[in-house]
Amino acid sequence: MQDIKEVSSILSDRITALSESQTIAMAKKARELAAQGHDVINLSFGEPDFQTPQYIKDAAKKAIDDGFTFYTPVPGYPELRQAIADKFKRDNNLDYKPENIVVSTGAKQSIANAVMCLVNPGDEVIIFSPYWVSYEEIVKLAEGVPVQVMGSLENDFKVTPAQLEAAITSNTKLIMYSSPCNPTGSVFTAEELLGLAKVLEKYPKVHVIADEIYEYINFEGEHASMASFDFIKDRVITVNGFSKGYAMTGWRVGYIAAHKDIAAACDKMQSQITSGTCSIAQKAAYAALQGGKDSAIEMRNAYFRRRNLVLELMNDIPGFKTNVPEGAFYIFPDVSYYFGMSYEGKTIQNALDLCMYLLTDALVAVVSGEAFGAPQCVRFSYATSDEKLVEALRRIKESLAKLQ
Ligand SMILES: Cc1ncc(COP(=O)(O)O)c(C=O)c1O
Repeated sequence: MQDIKEVSSILSDRITALSESQTIAMAKKARELAAQGHDVINLSFGEPDFQTPQYIKDAAKKAIDDGFTFYTPVPGYPELRQAIADKFKRDNNLDYKPENIVVSTGAKQSIANAVMCLVNPGDEVIIFSPYWVSYEEIVKLAEGVPVQVMGSLENDFKVTPAQLEAAITSNTKLIMYSSPCNPTGSVFTAEELLGLAKVLEKYPKVHVIADEIYEYINFEGEHASMASFDFIKDRVITVNGFSKGYAMTGWRVGYIAAHKDIAAACDKMQSQITSGTCSIAQKAAYAALQGGKDSAIEMRNAYFRRRNLVLELMNDIPGFKTNVPEGAFYIFPDVSYYFGMSYEGKTIQNALDLCMYLLTDALVAVVSGEAFGAPQCVRFSYATSDEKLVEALRRIKESLAKLQ
């Protein structure tokens, strides 16, 4: 096959403007080094290290044997949508009907659907920063204008109502955040969400994508949902899924709960793109919900133990400034203390340089905060074994000590 000489003249502006996911790019580099025989410890992954629980796998096998091999309804099997509505009642005290629920191919598609359905070219989308890498790119794909509002480390990286209000303009259409947050592990309390909701009450055009995919990985207190405030519930699209809580990343099942008209729009959107989620994966997701939360709680307990371990080990590394993550499985220290330092003639200018240094010198893969809107930070995932975490932090400490 011939090489295309001028790729940019052939590909659309849309795809040319899109950034490759830095988390995936880092994981790729780490794999390359590992393939060359290096003992790389990968802390760049955004996924549980646990296997999907056995009862869920069994349900998927049964679904194949029972003949669930045909197209499903676009927004998902009715019994799965009902089970998700029941989950919202059980866990979040939220009343939804199946017509409010759309099941998609991962929460990533749920978010993309909602953004495509709500954002017109030029609409501003306020993204609480630090943010999950894909938010900004999805907004750009919809020709929206991402507006980052930065939470400070001193405030646990949380955006305040005053910051939100200051960022809203007549062009604001949407705000997006995750809680528990990837990458900071911060968790909004009900009181904090109420403060934000009260601001939004004054701006009836503004909608919210509340990404709650890490709901079950919460170390302190209750999970709180923006949709629990009746006065803005119809404007909140709650995103959740099975990837994190049930260790089902590869199955690709996410969902939204939203006003029925927004849900119908998302249904229409995916009818033209994927025709809905894999039938087998939907059956597995249904079984996951029927099985309750025991396996999710067990995994949450392991993340909690690892969070404490990593915090303790990081305390021992000079110059790392961090909040105490209350959920998810990431820690996001400010590493700017090391900027300007050198090793063997090479100067660390930014977090990306530091990540490259840690990958080559310590053989530990982490992700630069630039990808998350915080170029002074680095994201460590602690979804790996205690032994690997201890060894990774030991190597990192040793490598950082060489910088002058
Ligand atoms: C905050 C956040 N939202 C959504 C997703 C997407 O999850 P899914 O695997 O369901 O597409 C991720 C995955 O890393 C995430 O971290």
